[in-house]
Amino acid sequence: MGMAHSGNSITSKVALVTGANRGLGFEIARQLGQAGSTVVIGARDPQRGDRAAALLRAEGLGAETATLDVADPASVQDAARELRDRFGTLDILVNNAGIAPEAATECSEVVSASLFRHTFHTNLIGAVSTVEWLLPLLRRSEAGRIVNVSTTMGSLADQSDPGSPYYATVVPAYQASKAALNSVTVGLAKLLADTPIKVNAICPGFVQTDITPMNRDHAPLTPADAARVVVRYALIDDDGPSGGFFDADGPIAW
Ligand SMILES: NC(=O)c1ccc[n+]([C@@H]2O[C@H](COP(=O)([O-])OP(=O)(O)OC[C@H]3O[C@@H](n4cnc5c(N)ncnc54)[C@H](OP(=O)(O)O)[C@@H]3O)[C@@H](O)[C@H]2O)c1
Repeated sequence: MGMAHSGNSITSKVALVTGANRGLGFEIARQLGQAGSTVVIGARDPQRGDRAAALLRAEGLGAETATLDVADPASVQDAARELRDRFGTLDILVNNAGIAPEAATECSEVVSASLFRHTFHTNLIGAVSTVEWLLPLLRRSEAGRIVNVSTTMGSLADQSDPGSPYYATVVPAYQASKAALNSVTVGLAKLLADTPIKVNAICPGFVQTDITPMNRDHAPLTPADAARVVVRYALIDDDGPSGGFFDADGPIAW
């Protein structure tokens, strides 16, 4: 188990990525490791988490695992306690874990309370719960960073723009959950304005992952390409933005 501190001197940043056992999260973890961070793979299935961490360690990166189901507050609490005991601090939190059940199935009931509840439980409450329990550790960092992995599809400006490539895509539970996550990003940045902690929402682009299995082959970006913008905001300097919404090209309209 790698320790982030040797004596009083910090040897590397500690980063936690939720849902990092596969897809975009795994590549975010890999690139944070390549940047010198000790990266903790948050995974709801410990075996999948351990397999992912072992792959990164085989590449010479500092990677560990924390069992973390964002939809289960007890699991988040346990992971926070474990990180506190192992590292004493957290520098980077990437809220990446997310689901899009509407996009993954042929779902005709687009306005379904149970679908909304399920989607919000992971994409919104999961991220909020992770922030709730990890914030004490982020406050111990000299330069805490929170990145919420969002999507342009959560932008109300984009949803109502007939010129948007996503105009015809209507997945309201997913879109609303990310719009709400964007709103939380603004609120958190305000609440943390007198701390070094920066909070931003980032759209990685349209990525070749399993979140929308039938779209996988149409997506232009590999997870490695898409992870770069997320990692950029996870590592931004003290004079970087907070409370913003960005993709690889810059600010996105809310
Ligand atoms: N792909 C895109 O085009 C795209 C575009 C914009 C934004 N995003 C966002 O990017 C993020 C990552 O998605 P992805 O495309 O990489 O999807 P993915 O390949 O389906 O991976 C999702 C990851 O989230 C994990 N996860 C799901 N529910 C979880 C929970 N309750 N607790 C912990 N982990 C959980 C999954 O773990 P298991 O392996 O255990 O299922 C998996 O590791 C999501 O927030 C998504 O909304 C994706």
